[in-house]
Amino acid sequence: MAPHQPPGEPGTGPLITFARSGLTVAWSPRHRSLLDLADACDVPTRWSCRTGVCHTCRTPLLSGDVEYAPDPLEPPPAGQALICCSRPPPRRRAGPVRRDPRHTCCQSGHRP
Ligand code: FES
Repeated sequence: MAPHQPPGEPGTGPLITFARSGLTVAWSPRHRSLLDLADACDVPTRWSCRTGVCHTCRTPLLSGDVEYAPDPLEPPPAGQALICCSRPPPRRRAGPVRRDPRHTCCQSGHRP
């Protein structure tokens, strides 16, 4: 199945772009992680433990930041994210609410 928007109400959070799929999705906290969002969108991924241990889900993070919950056993190298246990950081409360910044991931299943 081709990547698509997740079922249900659209999110209102930061925009997540899966670069190789060309799919941009608004984050919703109903997803536990970026991997959970990718699964809901049928974006191809690689994963194994889903708990931040094995690094199988390691994916280039082209822009933006992530926060981890739970923290991975070992952090990924700079410019990479473990999408099984990460999500966009919460917005800052001060100032106007914005949908930016964008968070852009490459699909881990298509790493060169
Ligand atoms: S699937 Fe093992 S660290 Fe993400």
